[in-house]
Amino acid sequence: MRPLSKSKFSLLPLLATLASASPSAPAAPGWQFSVKGNSGIVALEAVVVSPTLVLLFDRAQNDPLQIDGHPAWGGLWNLEHNNITALEVVTNSWCASGAILSNGTMASIGGDQTGFPGNPAIKPGNQAIRLFEPCTSPVGAGCTVFEDPNLVLIEPRWYPSSTRIFDGSLLIVGGMHEQAHFYNTDPAASFEFFPRKEQTARPSAFLERSLPANLFPRVFMVANNQTIIYDVEADTETILPDIPNGVSVTAPTDGSAILLPLSPPDYTPEVLVCGGSVIDQTLQPGNFSSQHPASSQCARMTITPEGIAKGWEVDYMLEARTLLELLHLPNGQILVTNGASTGFSGWNAVQDTVGNSNADHAALVPSLYTPAAALGQRFSNAGMPSSGIPRMYHATASLTVQGNFFIGGSNPNNGSNFTTGFEFPTELRIQTLDPPFMFVPRPRILSMPEKLAFGTRVSVPISIPNSLNRRDANVQVSLMDLGFSTHGFHVGARLVFMDATTSNNGKTLSFVTPPNGRVYPPGPATIFLTIDDVTSEGAMVMMGSGNSPPTLE
Ligand SMILES: *[C@@H]1O[C@H](CO)[C@@H](O)[C@H](O)[C@H]1NC(C)=O
Ligand SMILES: *[C@@H]1O[C@H](CO)[C@@H](O)[C@H](O)[C@H]1NC(C)=O
Ligand SMILES: *[C@@H]1O[C@H](CO)[C@@H](O)[C@H](O)[C@H]1NC(C)=O
Ligand SMILES: *[C@@H]1O[C@H](CO)[C@@H](O)[C@H](O)[C@H]1NC(C)=O
Ligand SMILES: *[C@@H]1O[C@H](CO)[C@@H](O)[C@H](O)[C@H]1NC(C)=O
Ligand SMILES: *[C@@H]1O[C@H](CO)[C@@H](O)[C@H](O)[C@H]1NC(C)=O
Repeated sequence: MRPLSKSKFSLLPLLATLASASPSAPAAPGWQFSVKGNSGIVALEAVVVSPTLVLLFDRAQNDPLQIDGHPAWGGLWNLEHNNITALEVVTNSWCASGAILSNGTMASIGGDQTGFPGNPAIKPGNQAIRLFEPCTSPVGAGCTVFEDPNLVLIEPRWYPSSTRIFDGSLLIVGGMHEQAHFYNTDPAASFEFFPRKEQTARPSAFLERSLPANLFPRVFMVANNQTIIYDVEADTETILPDIPNGVSVTAPTDGSAILLPLSPPDYTPEVLVCGGSVIDQTLQPGNFSSQHPASSQCARMTITPEGIAKGWEVDYMLEARTLLELLHLPNGQILVTNGASTGFSGWNAVQDTVGNSNADHAALVPSLYTPAAALGQRFSNAGMPSSGIPRMYHATASLTVQGNFFIGGSNPNNGSNFTTGFEFPTELRIQTLDPPFMFVPRPRILSMPEKLAFGTRVSVPISIPNSLNRRDANVQVSLMDLGFSTHGFHVGARLVFMDATTSNNGKTLSFVTPPNGRVYPPGPATIFLTIDDVTSEGAMVMMGSGNSPPTLE
């Protein structure tokens, strides 16, 4: 990595000379990767909790960041100062999931039951519910992770998924009871809720059927090569067509899935499921190779009776990827980033690990997917730089309130391992991926109410740079859940477009909020204004009452 950044710096004076010698206009700004600093723990799980802070969790292990005389495994990454504040976490958050409740409290769900040698502070985490209350301090002063030993999951869960639903509570899905090295060999084949809706977990035929490669099921839901719609109120599973061509898309064959942007008036849901691998699941880990090609397949389906009857439409990414991330841009495009072109999640399990990694051939160049383009023309990486840093197993990515992407992590090792001389050591460098609009005058949302009710028209003051102030400009207003990132997928991420107009003088934006919590589950949201693909900084709001989700009794 060092020679690369050195040559970049030595090129800068040359570029400056060329630019000053040339009378032509400066080139339009492009996408840029920028290394921001060192996170001290692996950014294994990442969730944006405020305009300036990303909450990170790692495995409780031997990370360099210290707290109270032992290695930390939680922290708040500051997007403004590019540094990290360690957080005291009691239980092991390794391969936990999480989401933010309707009242703004982040809940980290499940984790690993074991400790790690040399870090005696750790308590078992597979039944844990860790709470991080809304944090108003821009630097996270006084913000802590709270763990009540009496507040636990019904079933122990390592590798579960969790997402906020229409009533503001979390649906918690699957996982396994104990640690296993590749397949789900001790399944928690059930659903439960936080706060609880009943005192026993709901068994799931789907999670039984999709064994053994069904860890971290993606919610609409997809696990292995199977998909369902789960009706939370009726507790019924409706079977949808399998992902085509035998591609399995959940750990250890990690693909990624995303709900495409929802638009008024119908908010018709469409899902996109990309990457993963085709494997013979009767074989054992030692029979697999780190050179096993991942899939480039992307399957897309409209989740209506007609769409389901039509089935999956198959498309292809520009390269094969496993352990990838799919992320919304506020203009409705999808960013494809992170991952590897061969191999699997995990470490030291396949016959020919690379360093300790089960995966190889890091996919370094992101691409953009344009949902409305014609089939076959939706993917492009024109003008996209290479990240220069492999982001494979245990890496994360998230859109930030500033409108750029936070990218961190990668650790296909047993604990942190900074030994030199092997491929894919523990990666602590944090990068941003900055879209071109970060380098030009941007529209601004000048103020926003703290809370927004469903189904109402809202007017807010804005400013629009002259370069974009035209009546025929394309104005988009998106209401976004930035989601929770881990293991190459992004649970809870959602983009709802809102009908919007700007006033003739360009000083007022008027938009209509979504009709109800089934279109946007009540809870924190970030609103972005995009004019001709130039996006403002986001404004964080509370969508709905901000009340706590319902509890039993
Ligand atoms: C982060 O950087 C800011 C600005 O330099 C500084 O005030 C703050 O103390 C730093 N925080 C940590 C945890 O290093
Ligand atoms: C899904 O996987 C199962 C088990 O490996 C296989 O029998 C089935 O044919 C696959 N479905 C498709 C559409 O490839
Ligand atoms: C799978 O691995 C086992 C031992 O790890 C070996 O005995 C067997 O021959 C392998 N099978 C295949 C198909 O490679
Ligand atoms: C991971 O490393 C720890 C500490 O060195 C060791 O005790 C443990 O057995 C290792 N686990 C695996 C699965 O390699
Ligand atoms: C780090 O990984 C390398 C390569 O597998 C191995 O030789 C070394 O023992 C590991 N170090 C630690 C501290 O686990
Ligand atoms: C949000 O609700 C959860 C679950 O009932 C509760 O534990 C938490 O303290 C609440 N947070 C706030 C800010 O009210």
